[in-house]
Amino acid sequence: MAAVLVKGGTVVTSTETQTADVCVKNGRITEVGPALSCKEAKLIDATGKLVLPGGVDVHTHFNLEVNGLKVADGFFEGTRAAACGGTTTIVEHPGFTPDGSLFAPIANYRKDALGNCVTDYALHGVVSKVGEDTGQELARLMADGIPSVKAYMTYAGRLDDDAIIAVLKAMKRERGLLTVHAENHEVIAELSGQLRDAGRLGPASHPLSRPDYSEGEAVERMIALARAAGNAPLYIVHLSTGVGLEAVRRAKAQGLPVYAETCPQYLLLTDERYSAPGDEALKYVLSPPLRKQEDCEALWQGLADGSIDTVATDHCSFNLSQKTERGRDDIFACPGGAPGVETRLPLLYSEGVKKGRLSLNRFVELVSTAPARLMGLAPAKGEIAPGADADIVIFDPKRKITISPATLRHNADYNPFEGFEVAGWPETVLLRGEAIIEKGKHTAREAMGRELKRTRFTV
Ligand code: URP
Ligand code: ZN
Ligand code: ZN
Repeated sequence: MAAVLVKGGTVVTSTETQTADVCVKNGRITEVGPALSCKEAKLIDATGKLVLPGGVDVHTHFNLEVNGLKVADGFFEGTRAAACGGTTTIVEHPGFTPDGSLFAPIANYRKDALGNCVTDYALHGVVSKVGEDTGQELARLMADGIPSVKAYMTYAGRLDDDAIIAVLKAMKRERGLLTVHAENHEVIAELSGQLRDAGRLGPASHPLSRPDYSEGEAVERMIALARAAGNAPLYIVHLSTGVGLEAVRRAKAQGLPVYAETCPQYLLLTDERYSAPGDEALKYVLSPPLRKQEDCEALWQGLADGSIDTVATDHCSFNLSQKTERGRDDIFACPGGAPGVETRLPLLYSEGVKKGRLSLNRFVELVSTAPARLMGLAPAKGEIAPGADADIVIFDPKRKITISPATLRHNADYNPFEGFEVAGWPETVLLRGEAIIEKGKHTAREAMGRELKRTRFTV
């Protein structure tokens, strides 16, 4: 494989910003420093550009099928969109199977991902049934390079508290990480029932049925369960509220190993979207729902002060046509989720760094370094440093783009951030030293992404 020299850019890591060159050989970074020369290397001029470690999005649903509906972005379209937006590694959350098998979703997703991913990829497990063998099965999963599983506190595959404690104990024993969708199921069931009985089946009922306290209570309870399980490490996915954040903050202040992820939709969009006319509001049916402006502000503060550890996307691209077909007359039947993988870095750079909410280094930490570290992908992923995979984003901080589904590569027929003007977009993206995106377009010969076996939880 040809050597590559990325020359003259501003290299940004989670701790440093420097004008430097990056030398790449055999798919790995060999040197970072000023005025490097690299024999017979292909030269990439990065003058005026930021040179970032490839983004790591640890929450995607590229292969999800729910109630007979499949998302619009499969592994190929989803990872191509990811790469166009500067993400070079994704970690996919499989959906649960009715029999609650730990291994069937993994086998199915591996089959579907193989040869179809433009970026590197890994899988989380999903645990929706707990029995006598679950501890041993989780150990087998981890020995197979999958050190994290997801549990749901709501939906059909939810776990009760005693089952969650059993999983937490097994995960701690095996040095794994439990990731959790934290919403109080009984609150949602009760409120949805009341709204349904009152005939209120429009989009406004979506946030009303999933209030902030349903997340706050669930996050608080999860932290208590993790404590009871011997301070098992815990990762809250898609945190959306100020009350949930406060619970995470208190846990961190007590020194508990509690980590939180949020997503751009919870930072940039509010529940006013549910008042949009016609079918427009259905675009924003995702769970947890969009919240209030004060929640957005609290989450930005949480990102800046270290209370929130990562920004992922929960990319789950049901088409608006699918949402309309199922959800127009009954919001509770609307498939939840929205696309986001392609716009994560540009939105967070534009709205975070450019608007003075985040430092450049913190931005890199949130979108790449910390997710790689927490999910067992470091040191190969998440940093620009000798020895790391040469997953490099040459990011043009001056490129202005108005987000629109017409200019994005994802397959979904809408984008929830349509109309946002971003300043900054990836120009060239390298995956293990090979240019997969050039001038913003996917140019790789093939889908060269590999499955990554992850290491156990060590943070
Ligand atoms: O509504 C959403 N976010 N659907 C995706 C599945 C989940 O809960 O993460
Ligand atoms: Zn979820
Ligand atoms: Zn999700």
